This record gives sequence, structure tokens and C-alpha cells, in this order.
Amino acid sequence: MTGAYLTESAEKRSDNGVYFMRMYDIIMKKRNGGELSDEEIRFFIEGYTKGEIPDYQVSSLMMAIFFQKMTARETLVLTQAMADSGDKLDLSAIKGIKVDKHSTGGVGDKTSLALVPIVAACGVPVAKMSGRGLGHTGGTIDKLESFDGFSTGISNETFINNVNSIGIAIMGQTADLAPADKKLYALRDVTATVDNMSLIASSIMSKKLAAGADAIVLDVKTGSGAFMKNEEDAFSLAKEMVTIGEDAGRRMCAVISNMDQPLGCAVGNAIEVREAIDTLNGKGPEDFTELVYELGSRMLLLGGKAADVSKGREMVKNAIESGAALNKLAEFVKAQGGDERAVYEPERLKLADYRSEILSPSSGYIHSIDCDEIGICSLMLGGGRETKESVIDLSVGLLLEKKVGDKVNKGDRIAVIYSSDEEKTEAVRERFLKAYHISEEFCEKQTLIKGVINGRDN
Ligand code: URA
Repeated sequence: MTGAYLTESAEKRSDNGVYFMRMYDIIMKKRNGGELSDEEIRFFIEGYTKGEIPDYQVSSLMMAIFFQKMTARETLVLTQAMADSGDKLDLSAIKGIKVDKHSTGGVGDKTSLALVPIVAACGVPVAKMSGRGLGHTGGTIDKLESFDGFSTGISNETFINNVNSIGIAIMGQTADLAPADKKLYALRDVTATVDNMSLIASSIMSKKLAAGADAIVLDVKTGSGAFMKNEEDAFSLAKEMVTIGEDAGRRMCAVISNMDQPLGCAVGNAIEVREAIDTLNGKGPEDFTELVYELGSRMLLLGGKAADVSKGREMVKNAIESGAALNKLAEFVKAQGGDERAVYEPERLKLADYRSEILSPSSGYIHSIDCDEIGICSLMLGGGRETKESVIDLSVGLLLEKKVGDKVNKGDRIAVIYSSDEEKTEAVRERFLKAYHISEEFCEKQTLIKGVINGRDN
């Protein structure tokens, strides 16, 4: 067993008088409501990462944490221990304040595709490492691969050079960032210990801290298509992550945004890239455009380019209206081997040939949309990954033409399905219609921004 000097209850004196630590005592301490010391937290994270502490002991500790919770100090130490468990990106060769953005994820969330070129056009360098992941659609990298030739398989040197020369680079996740979190998250997933606020916050923030940015803007989603279904939980998670980031020396801000219906109108991959391009042309859907303004202005504020949020919004507006953000996207796509002509001619981003309209079955107002169900429709079309091995069809997706609060007449078109297969289309249509709830009673449109948690100095 790994030994370590300690002054708390998990310490044990061996026969030869040396203090050592036992996982058993750590589990018992937490089970009984105690507060773990920094050394105890680092001990179990290091031991677990190296394979010296078995899954059954760590799952038992996770369950004890689930019930007994963690203090802010414990949560911070856990986050830092996980961030320290593997590689860390060194962005010191990049000039300026590096600002990262993280979304807790949702249906139709193509925000980075529009946001990154906007903030880069305004002078904030963006050096992002992105993954692919499982989900209703691909991740940012998959979506970017809708541009012919685009690659995130660039060297570290090209990555840094591109950020310094054009202001943006996105790299596939090659480095072993926060491996402790990877192991722990997989274990929590199968032991019913995911939904503890401290564990979620430390899991997300450990990866963000390892990714090396100086400032981080979080987009915490809430609603039926989000990880945090309830608004109160989303605010608690946002506060916890902002506190962790600040205590770890980063500038932080969190925006809590609505995910009770898909974001924007497009759900898929190439179709979402097209919508991001429309937005950079000033023609994006209202809700998506608003989110881009909100997050963009806060990234510019944290990046030291805007004096306040309203100046930040003005800068976002100018970057869109002047075409600078669109040109920046083209520069970025080209620098990573992609066909930048598609930025100016988005019809080059191929959509599936088989198209089918979904018509409203009744008249009235759209009252709610089961957001997760729309995500599943995209997955059924082949737009997302069910397993790590799944191959995504970038050309399939859905375009929603009516959203919550919209009035419809029976027979109006509410969406279009882009599919490669007629049989799948019919199954999707059935599922889609069950997810839309229409009633005669008037219904308001939904508010997108639910609130903002600012850090200490913004
Ligand atoms: N996402 C993460 O990265 N970690 C969690 O624990 C939950 C969601």
C-alpha cells in the first residue's frame, strides 16, 4: 500500500512508527460525515489513477461523497488533483489572455462554431482542444469536418503558430488531459453517483483547468434537453464551477441558458454549421444569435478587450456586420486544411438528399418540446454516436421551423427531416410529433438567458 505522512484520521502508525494512509479509513471518514484533508484527496486520486486503489473502494467513497457531500475546499482540491493527474496544455507561448468556453451540452448547440471566430476577430486568442464524444450529434470537431479536408490532427507547433498568426486553432484531444476524471466519471456512471454537484463541478473543471486557458466562460444549460433539468440545480452548478475556477486562479463567468427546446433551428452536423454561418452573416435564429452575443461579450470582457458587457456586445455586432467574423472562420478553416469556399457558399456543405416535411397535426400554439426527444431523432437519423465506434453521417439532421410560443395552423410545416433512408424518416417523424405539444391556449416564447454568475472581478 502506498504510504504518505498525514495528520488526520486516515493516518495510521505502522509497527515501525511510520505513518501511512489507508483507503479504508478515507471511506470511513467520509461515510461518517468527516471532511477529507488535501492529502487524503490527493492520495486516492493518485492511487486510483495509477491503478493501485481498486474500483470497489473508489465507488464506495463516491457513494459516501454522494450522501455526505464535500466542502468547497474539498471540491477545489479534488478538481486540482484530477487536473494534475495527466498532461496539461502549456499555452504560455500564445500572446494575450486565452479565454476558453465550455458548454454543459444540449440539442442543437453549435455555439462554438460561431463564437470562436467572433471573439478571435475581436482580438481574443482561442486555443481549444475538443473531443468528439457520444451524443445526439457529433461534437464541434465532427461538425467542423463537414468542411471538406478540415483536420484537427495538427502538431502542437502548428497549433500554437496558428493561434499566434490567425487567432484560432482547434486540436483533437490527443493529450491525456485529466485521466483521473476519465476513470472516475466512467465509474460514477455505472454506480449511480454522477449527480452530485461537487463531483460534477470538479469533473468539468478539472478538464478545463488542464486545458490551460487564463479565463473560462461557462454556458450551463437547463431544461428538458440538458444535463441539469432543473434551474435551481443549474445555478448551483454554475456557482460551484465559478468558485472552483476563481480559487484556481482563473477569471470566470457562467451564463445559465435555456435548453427546454433545441437551440436555434438546426439539429445535426453540416446543417448546424450552415446555421452558424447564417448567424455570422447576421441571419441566424433569434435565440442562437442572442446566446452568441451574451457569451461573446463576456469572453471579450474576460479577455480584456471590452470594458464592459455592453461594449462587448457592440464589438460582437461589429465583427458580424463588418464580415470580420465570417472571414476569420474562413481563415481558420483554410489553416486547418478545409475548403474555405464553403464559408461563403454554405450550400457546399452537403445535406442528405432525402427530405421530408413534418406537418402540424392541429392548430394552436406550440406549448413545449421534449428537447431530448428531438436529440434522439437526430441520433436515429445517424447524426450522433451511440458507441465510440459509430460512424456519424454529417449530412443528416432536422430543421425546426416552429418553436415554443409559435402559432401554427393544422397542416403548417413545423420541421424538415434530412435523411438518407426512408424507413428511418418515418420512425423519426412519429417520434418527433410526439415531442411537440400543441394546444389552443396562448403560450409565450421562452426566455433564453436565465441568469449570469459573475466572478469577483467582472
Ligand atoms: N460532464 C462531465 O464532464 N462530468 C460530469 O460529472 C458530468 C457531466
